Amino acid sequence: MTGSPHERRIRVELGARSYDVVIGTGLLPNAGALIDAAAGPLRGRKVFIAVDDALPGTLISALMEALGASGTHIHREFVKAEEGNKSLARAEELFTSLSGAGFDRRDLLVALGGGIVGDLGGFVAGTYHRGISWVQCPTTLLSMVDASVGGKTAVNLILDPFEGDFRSTPEIRKNIIGVVHQPRLVLADVSALASLSERSFRAGLAECIKHGLLAEAWGIAGLFAWTEQHLDSILRRDEATLIELIFRNVAVKARVVEADEREEISQGLRAQLNLGHTFGHAFESLPKLSPDGHSYNAPLQHGEAVALGLVAASRCAAAAGVCPTAIAEKLELLLSRAGLPVRIGGLPPNQTVIARMMHDKKVAAGRLRLVLPESIGRCTFRDDISLAAIEAGIDAVRKT
Ligand SMILES: NC(=O)c1ccc[n+]([C@@H]2O[C@H](COP(=O)([O-])OP(=O)(O)OC[C@H]3O[C@@H](n4cnc5c(N)ncnc54)[C@H](O)[C@@H]3O)[C@@H](O)[C@H]2O)c1
Repeated sequence: MTGSPHERRIRVELGARSYDVVIGTGLLPNAGALIDAAAGPLRGRKVFIAVDDALPGTLISALMEALGASGTHIHREFVKAEEGNKSLARAEELFTSLSGAGFDRRDLLVALGGGIVGDLGGFVAGTYHRGISWVQCPTTLLSMVDASVGGKTAVNLILDPFEGDFRSTPEIRKNIIGVVHQPRLVLADVSALASLSERSFRAGLAECIKHGLLAEAWGIAGLFAWTEQHLDSILRRDEATLIELIFRNVAVKARVVEADEREEISQGLRAQLNLGHTFGHAFESLPKLSPDGHSYNAPLQHGEAVALGLVAASRCAAAAGVCPTAIAEKLELLLSRAGLPVRIGGLPPNQTVIARMMHDKKVAAGRLRLVLPESIGRCTFRDDISLAAIEAGIDAVRKT
């Protein structure tokens, strides 16, 4: 971990696939030189930019001008950041554009946007011509602290509702088609966060709070307490505090990814990052939910679903005797201070939620495998949790 207070760097050490995550301000206008140094000379190569269509024009032109000045041929494609667009159908459209523009293995893809554009762009980069180089320029807090680091890319499986089903909208099975394809560089320019909506900004804090719940085990001490202490400056989006927040969180993610890049270690090293996600993915896939105390309804943003998933996981852990109830209460307090939902109206019966949880990837031989908090800073991996404790977790977030 190196860098000045206004530009910090973390190396993700993965042998030949190692790369830097650069965190700072004003990085996009300097992207040409930074990418040149990390991914080889740009001159004469083609660059395909997959761009979130909600970004301010100034951000997009800063990147395009920086790349144009490096002598590249730029192709730009806008993507609307919706889970329904993280799909094979949208990926196929991008493959068609790449092929139509004559992209080959020497060329480069840059994803400029949040986790949706990053996951889709990375999946396309990881599969086009069996994998081309790519660079992530995350523009949401969630993608800066989490999604852009570690090379997991994916699209969703989107299933139409069938007659008589309680669903009225397509079911989205999250991230079940994907590839691990590390980027050559991650540029987290915190200046981009200025235009992010309050709702999306707060959604990103859910993954930071999740990291705080597992960081001690990875040698990063006191992250949960640091987040509690600095929450007011974080919510004011003070840039120096944001750089430090992202730096500390990327440090956790990098250490976990280095230990278990492809989530192959069965007793879950990288799988620890799924804390709150088995419950959360089920909530995220359900229509017609209304978070208590918030003006928006489903579809939930990923971070909002993770916040509810963390509450459910901690209450489930408390009911199963894995952690004291005080941990669940402390967690809920921090999530509420961060403006994240902790209760939700409109949840279907528990068995419907559990059926959705079973579609999640973390199911072994029909048993739910849950990552549960043991203490602030450490979590554990369990596949022997009783149905009663799982239901206690779901009931804890149910607004009655
Ligand atoms: N690959 C991974 O390891 C990983 C990890 C966590 C989450 N994810 C995935 O990430 C996705 C969620 O990502 P997200 O939370 O970044 O959401 P997102 O990509 O949907 O972005 C949230 C909203 O913010 C808008 N936006 C993005 N940047 C902006 C900016 N700078 N200014 C104004 N508006 C901006 C988007 O258009 C969108 O409306 C989910 O699909 C999730 O599964 C992946």
